[in-house]
Amino acid sequence: APPAVIAPSILSADFGVLADECLNTMKHGADWLHIDIMDGHFVPNMTFGPPVVAKIRERIDKPQDPMGKGTFDCHMMISEPHKWVSNFHKAGCDLYCFHYEATIAPGSDTNSSGYGTAFYPTSPSELIRFIHSYDMKAGIAIKPKTPVDVLWDILEHPNVDDRPDMVLVMTVEPGFGGQSFMPEMMPKVKALRERYPGLPIEVDGGLSEKTIDVAADAGANVIVAGSAVFGASDPAAVISHLRDAVDK
Ligand code: DX5
Ligand code: ZN
Repeated sequence: APPAVIAPSILSADFGVLADECLNTMKHGADWLHIDIMDGHFVPNMTFGPPVVAKIRERIDKPQDPMGKGTFDCHMMISEPHKWVSNFHKAGCDLYCFHYEATIAPGSDTNSSGYGTAFYPTSPSELIRFIHSYDMKAGIAIKPKTPVDVLWDILEHPNVDDRPDMVLVMTVEPGFGGQSFMPEMMPKVKALRERYPGLPIEVDGGLSEKTIDVAADAGANVIVAGSAVFGASDPAAVISHLRDAVDK
């Protein structure tokens, strides 16, 4: 697997002093900031939008290399993700990670020709191309009930530039921090890792010092942790534990 990337989820930060919390977690050894964007429609919760992300960006330098230290990993738990690409690019997002489920009509054929309806105007591959046109990296996330098989065609897109830069396998139902890790998601991670030894694979939900070994053994290398980092008395120690578990 590629080297560990530790991405604290600022959903568990103190929103009253959010930018300070972000700066502190970077000082504690975080690689990326995982920024959970929720619209109250795709998920039953709301967070914040581009103006807040832009204020955090003022305090944290843009990454030197694509997906390097300081990457803003925006986890877009929103419907109509194509509508917000430009705004989040302007706000300073580096990696725009949308949900597969937000681009596919429920019950529609998920094979090559099946996507794209009046309500879902953008297929995953089209959305990835669109994100890349803004010079951002593109991630694709799947919820627990979505099988990993929907991703194969997308990862094998004939145009290499239209392939995702990262896959996010959710290990909880998206919407809230502090839920329990779902180990039954690990076969998805293993299947992805077997086919794609160099692909950044992110896991999100319930990651902690207790669950990291299971995720790392399956092949995940991008580790999101919200409550485990922001709730810790020694966040730097938690971050380095998570890193060592992946890099061991
Ligand atoms: C859940 C979010 C996660 C969340 C993880 O919908 O996508 O990023 O903040 O929180 P923990 O690590 O507490 O499960
Ligand atoms: Zn998230």
